[in-house]
Amino acid sequence: MSIQKQLKDDFPADFLWGASTSAFQVEGAANEDGKGVTVADLRSQKSKYIDTSVAADHYHHVEEDVALMAELGLKSYRFSISWARIYPHGNDEEPNQKGIDFYNKLINLLVKNKIEPIVTLFHFDCPEDLVKQYGGWANRKAIDDYYRYAKTVFEQFGDRVKYWLTINEQSLIANVPAMNGINDTDMHRLREKGENSNYNMFLAQAKVYSLCHKMFPNSKIGPAVSYMTNFPYDHTSANALKSKSMEDMISFIDMDVALRGELPSYYLRYLKDSNITLDVHEGDAEILQNGRANFLGLNWYSTSVFKLSNEESPKMLDGVISNVEKVRDDRLMNSEWDFSYDPVGLRFALQKVNDRYPNIPIIITECGWPEREELEDGKVHDSKRVKYLNGHIYELREAIKDGVNVISFNPWSFLDLLSVNDGMDKRYGLVFVNRDNNSERDMKRYPKDSFYFYQKVIATKAKNVTKLEIDE
Ligand code: BG6
Repeated sequence: MSIQKQLKDDFPADFLWGASTSAFQVEGAANEDGKGVTVADLRSQKSKYIDTSVAADHYHHVEEDVALMAELGLKSYRFSISWARIYPHGNDEEPNQKGIDFYNKLINLLVKNKIEPIVTLFHFDCPEDLVKQYGGWANRKAIDDYYRYAKTVFEQFGDRVKYWLTINEQSLIANVPAMNGINDTDMHRLREKGENSNYNMFLAQAKVYSLCHKMFPNSKIGPAVSYMTNFPYDHTSANALKSKSMEDMISFIDMDVALRGELPSYYLRYLKDSNITLDVHEGDAEILQNGRANFLGLNWYSTSVFKLSNEESPKMLDGVISNVEKVRDDRLMNSEWDFSYDPVGLRFALQKVNDRYPNIPIIITECGWPEREELEDGKVHDSKRVKYLNGHIYELREAIKDGVNVISFNPWSFLDLLSVNDGMDKRYGLVFVNRDNNSERDMKRYPKDSFYFYQKVIATKAKNVTKLEIDE
């Protein structure tokens, strides 16, 4: 075989063209059929937008939604299971049968339509009762409760699910502990709790990787990592180092632990400098060493440019993002919410990941464009999203040709959903959901222009994807 033949020149035939959502952002039915309250429910109630009680009402539209996925031609669908639908208090004696029934229904519909389920076990929605009982993820007790929940989920659905994601964007919820329901008035104590929650999530995941390999040796499991590619504002080494350190601390940390089985030295130095102590027990190192992921899930939206500043970032905790300022690049198309359109950045990011972990299988678990949108005669002309998809799929193919082992692409999001920070104002969906922040209207679904564009991508194996002038 010649050397060239080892390289792929296009998307592989079994490439999983998918789309993505998460439970609290689409399901609604937040208080139905025995589901317990989660930190995401409470967080949404405090926002100025709608809460999780109805969201996109996917819970009651599941047949219709899967029929739309089939019409789109999806080969995979990435969604999350709500822990509190299975164990309403996080660690009840018995699981909630109605919760299991709902996910059985969804998974069976997907399987019937030949759509591969890619299932996230935990996406920002810790059962609130675990926070009340013992402080949630900041306490090591959460490791056993998550493990038990995962075991139940594997027992119930593992015969039909081949791809599992353990925790969505762990570094984000560790750096913003309130996302896990963890609070403290003392900033140092809060950081310490946040880092202990991080450590406990690493241990819990490692145990669950091992469990999954044991129960289903042919299944694949990995983390869903937030990968924001950072570029320095200028050529100074200080700016370049800061932007690299941010990538390490926000993104590569989750990948390093999942694939190398130990806490990286840059993280240990950060803990030491910050005077943070982890609750480490004997045997932890072996747990991390023994439990490894098979692939990486990457949530990738855009590139960012940062420069050093004297201002502390008000958004994140000190340490991880501090003394930096995000700079908007006006040469790029920018969304209202600061996301930029920079598809070559995706190829760059994938090359970097592949350099660090050669040939690791990669699933793009999120990638999407936010817009404010309204129906126009039953249609939504989301031309910027079409452009975004076109550009990113073009660069994805280039990355595959470079030799990166990408196996699936799941844009965010299949349906319009409740944005974590901006309610229904900020829409990502391929399918419009007819509601807004003020009214539930009729909740009808309308495929947008991007739906039809992506449908053609899937049907033609991306032959309709072209290089746009802006990318050149
Ligand atoms: C990712 C999350 O961080 O970003 C999603 O996994 C989220 O849950 C997405 O919706 C976009 O963020 P936002 O705040 O616009 O919803």
